[in-house]
Amino acid sequence: MYYPWWYVPGLTAPMLIAIIAVVHIFVSHYAVGGGILIALENQFAVKTNDKLYRDYWHHHAQFFVLLTVAFGAITGVGIWWTIALASPLATEMLIRTFVFGWAIEWVFFIVEIVAAFLMYYFWTRLPEKTHIVIAWIYALAAWISLVLITGITAFMLDSRGLFANWDETGNFWHAFFNVQFLPQTIIRTGASILLASLYVFLHAAWTFRNVNVANNSVNSELFNKIVQRMSRPLIFGIVTVLLGVVWWFVLLSPNVLLIMERSVLLNILLTLFFGLCGLITLLIILGPILNPRSINLGFAVCLFIFGLTALGSAEFIREAVRKPWIVDQVVLGNQIYANEVAERQTTGFLRPSHWQQRPTEKIQLGGMVFMYHCNNCHATNHGLSAVGPLLYGESKEKITETIKNLNRPTLSMPPWSGTDEELDALAEFLLTIRPEK
Ligand code: HEC
Repeated sequence: MYYPWWYVPGLTAPMLIAIIAVVHIFVSHYAVGGGILIALENQFAVKTNDKLYRDYWHHHAQFFVLLTVAFGAITGVGIWWTIALASPLATEMLIRTFVFGWAIEWVFFIVEIVAAFLMYYFWTRLPEKTHIVIAWIYALAAWISLVLITGITAFMLDSRGLFANWDETGNFWHAFFNVQFLPQTIIRTGASILLASLYVFLHAAWTFRNVNVANNSVNSELFNKIVQRMSRPLIFGIVTVLLGVVWWFVLLSPNVLLIMERSVLLNILLTLFFGLCGLITLLIILGPILNPRSINLGFAVCLFIFGLTALGSAEFIREAVRKPWIVDQVVLGNQIYANEVAERQTTGFLRPSHWQQRPTEKIQLGGMVFMYHCNNCHATNHGLSAVGPLLYGESKEKITETIKNLNRPTLSMPPWSGTDEELDALAEFLLTIRPEK
């Protein structure tokens, strides 16, 4: 309890993180996949001496740099900002344990930004060979940042791995020798390339929106070529994602599988994810592969939205199954280390701190316990997973019983980690927010 709590009314703080993170993922995956596509296609254009095709990629690079560097960086910082407020203990633990991981990541991030600007601004001024090398430096640096971040986030969701014994000082190598690291890196690499191809479709369809694709003009030939070239990374991306997802599934812990099977919402999202992957594959075959000339802006927009929705639902599933952990087996959703639970049950969940006085009044005390113990997953009386409605019409005895056995009937909640006095205060507080029968 050395940090203040942060309550986001209705939405809950973790959902705010999720929203910012998903928006960030839509752009950051493009930053990686787009880098690889630019490097490949730029090299191809130089090799085949196709100036028009290379010019298109120069034009695309402007959109790419603007979106990924500006918007990607802002949303990335947004994630740090919100996680530090919503889960300060977990953020502290991640910074301490992986300090060199973050440092390496930032080095590559700087390389990325410098290479991106050199690549765009000196597109026509650098010798072609040097320009190709710079484009590849960008692509490699961006991919390495993806690998580093995926390692750390994979560990947060599933800490099982080669270094099984965790102590509070942590172990840097947990990030790269956990069971989920490889499948998640494969999924994210595939998703980057898939998403980037969809961005190229969208950008090209917009750029050539007034071109009559059937009339064989120079522009229609160029658009045709872009569409045809992009169908390969699209197929590569989707196959890689699906292979990675199967591997991810096989390695899931039994607990996570149970959580997934029990939740109607997660079942719906899983169906949505696989359905969309199938639909995207079908559309790629019917469109870019068999009828490249039939592609227009509407088609590109649909494909793009399907792609974002598939990625968004996959991220949501991945996040939803992490409960009750913020960092798997290390930090619980009630903002304490897992190995502190027993001690807190005897000495008290709330700790004295300079952030706030311990309230003397019972309901206020209960409210404070709620903010630390429950706020990370539940709104109070209105909003996402609001506890008030969940306890509709229940008696104090029943509520007390529910809290005492918090982690028993469900798999997603941390164990109750306070004293009887705190339990009583929390129950009194919950009585004030639950609707009467
Ligand atoms: C780490 C996240 C997390 C924390 C922290 C958490 N909960 Fe939950 N809670 C959940 C989830 C997820 C569910 C839905 C569980 C399910 O359907 O399996 C749930 C369900 C519930 C329910 C409905 C249970 C039922 O059987 O219908 C109540 C009541 C509840 N929580 C109260 C609380 C209270 C009170 C606290 C704080 C002392 C708390 N929760 C802390 C995640 C959490």
